[in-house]
Amino acid sequence: MITEKKVLLAASQPEFGAGLVRALAMEPADVVGQISDSGIRGRGGAGFPTGVKWRLAADFSSPVKYVICNADEGEPGTFKDRILIQKYSERLMEGMTIAGYAIGASKGIIYLRAEYSCLVPVIEEAVQKLTDKGLLGDNIQGRGVNFHIELVRGAGAYICGEETALIESLEGRSGMPRNKPPYPVTSGYLNKPTVINNVETFCAIPHIVLNGAEWYNDLGSGECSGTKLFSISGDVEKPGVYELPMGAPLMDLLELAGAEDIQAVQVGGASGTTVPASDISRTLSFKDLPPGGSVIVFDNTISMIDVLDNFMNFFVHESCGQCTPCREGTLQLQKAIEKIISGEINGMEELDGFFKLAGVMKATSKCGLGQTAANCFVDIVSDFAVFHGGISSHEGDE
Ligand SMILES: Cc1cc2nc3c(=O)[nH]c(=O)nc-3n(C[C@H](O)[C@H](O)[C@H](O)COP(=O)(O)O)c2cc1C
Ligand code: SF4
Repeated sequence: MITEKKVLLAASQPEFGAGLVRALAMEPADVVGQISDSGIRGRGGAGFPTGVKWRLAADFSSPVKYVICNADEGEPGTFKDRILIQKYSERLMEGMTIAGYAIGASKGIIYLRAEYSCLVPVIEEAVQKLTDKGLLGDNIQGRGVNFHIELVRGAGAYICGEETALIESLEGRSGMPRNKPPYPVTSGYLNKPTVINNVETFCAIPHIVLNGAEWYNDLGSGECSGTKLFSISGDVEKPGVYELPMGAPLMDLLELAGAEDIQAVQVGGASGTTVPASDISRTLSFKDLPPGGSVIVFDNTISMIDVLDNFMNFFVHESCGQCTPCREGTLQLQKAIEKIISGEINGMEELDGFFKLAGVMKATSKCGLGQTAANCFVDIVSDFAVFHGGISSHEGDE
């Protein structure tokens, strides 16, 4: 069994600012190179390589650039970023300042989930502390580098966590995702090159700068680098936030959290993957079960069709309604679920059209919400006993 490997949550932490001081002694391009070599991929869900993102923004010539921290944390079951901000907001800001130095930005914005009002004083205090220590503000460490951080409260919508909807919201409009390209790295906030990263991604940066790319690579397992935080909840004895090597088997996390009676595990939130108990040897990695922040365990007392109903209602409610496949597709899937619950649909053969619809939603929706909203439908209907006769396709196939 692979045990917890604590870096971001380690009891003994490097001094705040040590990573930034080390970064400032390097050329900005070398900082970007080190982040690339570390293999770190974004911890907000999509897993885009952070070094590639930073390099694209750094290479784009512009006198004004921005660094944005996505602290919207709206995925159901995710609470790891809240813990990081509560305990390590100075580390987060250190990571953002390193990003600013690396890409040539002097302004950072933390976009904080509306419901996290308790974190506002924590963030404000950290900004003040770092400014007093000469680690934030003008002429950082006497090196002629400026970086200021502003806190902006989110708009209270899940879609505002999508990076281009977040930018729209920051600019004072409704949180509706933009067409891509252009991507934020060349045309983001106020149409300037913008790096947007998740809280956890920024928190890892100072550790990488201090300990090196190879060290970070070695923390992971398989072909994955680094560690990953998981917020685990549901039917477990010890819910909470755990840090494991990226690429660890799901069963390790379940064991740590004390999950005994397992019917299903949802990895990566409502838009992620729902697996039956027989699949818990699969790995938490971008190649297998893409790890967002959330892992929810359902025991055998839970009705999985009710779980699905709950998640689809969430997507219907949170779709911004801008594009047809997502707006109408989520409604159609919601109706199919209602028919399964009422017994009007009672077998897989009646769901062919809905599986095709799920494929269309994935292929043609404008943003990640619509592209992934049908995942829970496909997984739960295929692998669990959802029909009135209690026969899942899984059992029926055998
Ligand atoms: C509907 C939706 C909601 C999202 N919510 C979040 C969020 O709350 N936090 C986050 O970091 N990324 C969220 N993302 C992903 C962001 O669009 C973006 O990929 C991420 O902030 C990039 O940071 P990273 O590369 O460090 O992961 C969301 C994406 C979608 C489609
Ligand atoms: S996929 Fe859904 S949430 Fe995304 S832009 Fe289209 S309607 Fe809006």
